Amino acid sequence: MVGFGPYVLLHTLGEGEFGKVKLGVHTEFGVEVAIKLIRRGSLDDEVRASKVEREIDVLKTLRHPNIVRMFDVIDTEKYIGIVLEFAGGGELFDHILANRYLKEKDAQKLFAQLISGVDYLHKKHIVHRDLKLENLLLDKHRNIIITDFGFANRFNHASDDLMATSCGSPCYAAPELVVSEGLYVGSAVDIWSCGVILYAMLSGYLPYDDDPNNPEGDNINLLYKYIMTTKLNFPDHISPLARHLLQMMLVPNPEHRCTVQEIMVHPWLSAHA
Ligand code: ADE
Repeated sequence: MVGFGPYVLLHTLGEGEFGKVKLGVHTEFGVEVAIKLIRRGSLDDEVRASKVEREIDVLKTLRHPNIVRMFDVIDTEKYIGIVLEFAGGGELFDHILANRYLKEKDAQKLFAQLISGVDYLHKKHIVHRDLKLENLLLDKHRNIIITDFGFANRFNHASDDLMATSCGSPCYAAPELVVSEGLYVGSAVDIWSCGVILYAMLSGYLPYDDDPNNPEGDNINLLYKYIMTTKLNFPDHISPLARHLLQMMLVPNPEHRCTVQEIMVHPWLSAHA
């Protein structure tokens, strides 16, 4: 049994960029937590060290039922341990695949929780910038828990959330991240990713993953050309209202993409607002 501060470390829950995430149990209170272990040796350059620092700084300020809670940071000689709320329901990804795709009623509840968390972040002038299925976990009651704030950033004024660092996974990344070279509107980038996530919830696959010229989707430039020139296709079972909402979010031009407020009042979601 390996101890870490007041916790015993059990099995590995996942692998992060800087090390493992392990299940921890408090030796006195029995509380389960997820401990993100960052090897000090992996923070050799300033960029990586400041990324971890920023993640901790952002997590400190967040308190929302659909955003992972940070309870503590434990410093040891070899590791920095970020002690997080344990999301016991596994990954949303696995929940979707186990059902092939989600029924709209199930998706409405989960998507409303995602949007509630994103609205909370944006109101605090924080953008996540790496929203994707792999970063959405479920708690034991099957509520969404947004995790991994390694790319998150603050903007000072709601009117100027312009950013310059390109982040995230290509399949979820808004086209302006690659197409334009200058600044982008951070909050609009999160909306695009939420659109990709909603599409995946309702279909069981990603919206722009079927370019015959780019079968692995790993050529980012081809991926963006495909997004810019391909009309969004839907499986037959997706309802007209859900399609309408997706078509408001997955708009390549960020100036024409909808806002969080427009999503929250959309009739597909209104019952769960
Ligand atoms: N994997 C990564 N982070 C986690 C968390 N907070 N809870 C459960 N599994 C995780």
